[in-house]
Amino acid sequence: MTSAHNRVAVMHGVNFDVLERRDPAIYGGLSLHELETKIQRWARDLQLEAIFFQTNAEGEFVEYLHRLPDLCDAVVLNAGAWTHYSRAIADALELTGLPTVEVHLSDVESRQDWRRVSVFDGLVLEKVSGKGPDGYRDALAALARHLDVAAG
Ligand code: DQA
Repeated sequence: MTSAHNRVAVMHGVNFDVLERRDPAIYGGLSLHELETKIQRWARDLQLEAIFFQTNAEGEFVEYLHRLPDLCDAVVLNAGAWTHYSRAIADALELTGLPTVEVHLSDVESRQDWRRVSVFDGLVLEKVSGKGPDGYRDALAALARHLDVAAG
């Protein structure tokens, strides 16, 4: 039985379209398609319905966030480098009013100082960082609990 409030938007920001070309020691070498396939499977296991979005254009990211309350019930957000400076995206996320978990493949706390800053502080339920793809499973599980979606 699938809950009516189980739709999760999984949003990737700038440079995730070329994920497989980024440093494999940091990002694991998988493509966005491979990552999304894993996320889709974990979402189904948790009785969630995942919808995916990626763009390299900040304005498109903001406009998608504007439409989000009509499309989904919760958000998994990896905004890439925008995480560290885009107040525009933070404002648009706040406007959605949707429960959100922030995810980073790499451990942003143990890299350069500027990666420790997140414009989403205070806006997200949780921040999952440094767990690779598995971090998305944790994020989905946290949202399933928050939405009270019963895993079958
Ligand atoms: C990232 C971490 C960011 O600092 C970086 O700019 C990215 C990817 C991650 O998933 O580890 O593009 O969000």
